[in-house]
Amino acid sequence: MPQVTEPEEYLFQAYGIFLLENKHPVIKELNHSFSPSVHGHKTWNSSFLIMDYFLHKHLLSPNKTVMELGCGWGPASIFCAENVDCKVTGVDLDNEVFPYLEAQADINKVKVSTLQKSFEKLTQKDLASQELIFGADICFWEQFTDIHFKLIKRAFKAGVKDIVFADPGRQPFYDLVELCEKHFNTEFLEWYSTEPKKFEGYILHVRN
Ligand SMILES: C[S@@+](CC[C@H](N)C(=O)[O-])C[C@H]1O[C@@H](n2cnc3c(N)ncnc32)[C@H](O)[C@@H]1O
Repeated sequence: MPQVTEPEEYLFQAYGIFLLENKHPVIKELNHSFSPSVHGHKTWNSSFLIMDYFLHKHLLSPNKTVMELGCGWGPASIFCAENVDCKVTGVDLDNEVFPYLEAQADINKVKVSTLQKSFEKLTQKDLASQELIFGADICFWEQFTDIHFKLIKRAFKAGVKDIVFADPGRQPFYDLVELCEKHFNTEFLEWYSTEPKKFEGYILHVRN
């Protein structure tokens, strides 16, 4: 894996972690060999909402087992590992995102386990060891409303305590919020991040 030393161009900091911009030479090099195909081709801003929310609500603690759904390049996973030493698993159906996640984990000197699986295929057994499950910008197609609702049900049956989704405000996300409000202990909040700059969106927090 290419080595990164900072400070340098196309490397930025947010919420205590280093992240790579798409123009960074490491990313350009990875792009020769890998091509994420389900929108996992950059760091999405909803990840910063998750980081800010976790900090404000003190949701993380050392050794806590947490799982990120649709982790992509893994910014929020890396934050959990770096910030308080959580045990993190990043899940994505697209294998091609993991080299980018690993490159970013390396420059932050943290370990994030990865699991190649789709949301639909995550079983109660996969979810049972997790205390907190979260996802940033993973509700962008209509079919995800039902898929995530069922996943939340499976996770609660498996004993997961908290599930947090962050989103810029897409319709399938609002539909998921509505379903959760009918069936679960649900908090729906407007939220904004302050790093690397202000970004506004929404948090869905469902408690078991
Ligand atoms: C918009 S990106 C968000 C990535 C990351 N959470 C972020 O905020 O930077 C959506 C991610 O979800 C993954 N994804 C899409 N459909 C999926 C599915 N059915 N199961 C698991 N992951 C999926 C994609 O591969 C991609 O990495």
